Amino acid sequence: MINAKLLQMVVNASNDGIVVAEQEGDDNILIYVNEAFERLTGFKAEDILYQDCRFLQKDDRDQPGLRNIREAIRAGRPCREVIRNYHKDGSLFWNELSITPVFNEADQLTYFIGIQKDVTVQVEAQQRLQELEAQVAQLKQQLAALNGDQG
Ligand SMILES: Cc1cc2nc3c(=O)[nH]c(=O)nc-3n(C[C@H](O)[C@H](O)[C@H](O)COP(=O)(O)O)c2cc1C
Repeated sequence: MINAKLLQMVVNASNDGIVVAEQEGDDNILIYVNEAFERLTGFKAEDILYQDCRFLQKDDRDQPGLRNIREAIRAGRPCREVIRNYHKDGSLFWNELSITPVFNEADQLTYFIGIQKDVTVQVEAQQRLQELEAQVAQLKQQLAALNGDQG
């Protein structure tokens, strides 16, 4: 078993954001964020501790992934979704968010762990691929029509 100090060092060294939240009414308030979370979001721990992480969504709240997250949290189930979030400077990033409930010995839900991975590069590449595929399909149709005209 590793000691608490080493565990904290390891968690802080992670390249992905790692946070711990505690249920408080309808909110899950942050009680710990690692350094990678601060780097990813641009927010310093002291500015955002004891808040619910939804501030990262700004006004962009109509996302299917958020509905799944809400339901999973309510049911105490783990979930993983890719959602739009915003850095402190307002710029968008795609967050692959994994949330896991933590139960104590009495089987009561006490905390949630969240892991945030920046997948902006992958999502944008996928979007570009879809655009290009649509263009290719359109060009194929135009070519077929031209060939049809000639035949
Ligand atoms: C541990 C944990 C980490 C979370 N991390 C994020 C996050 O990085 N970005 C985000 O937009 N929402 C995050 N959420 C989700 C929001 O806190 C909130 O649960 C979600 O917006 C759905 O609830 P709401 O509709 O009440 O806002 C996290 C939730 C938990 C429990």
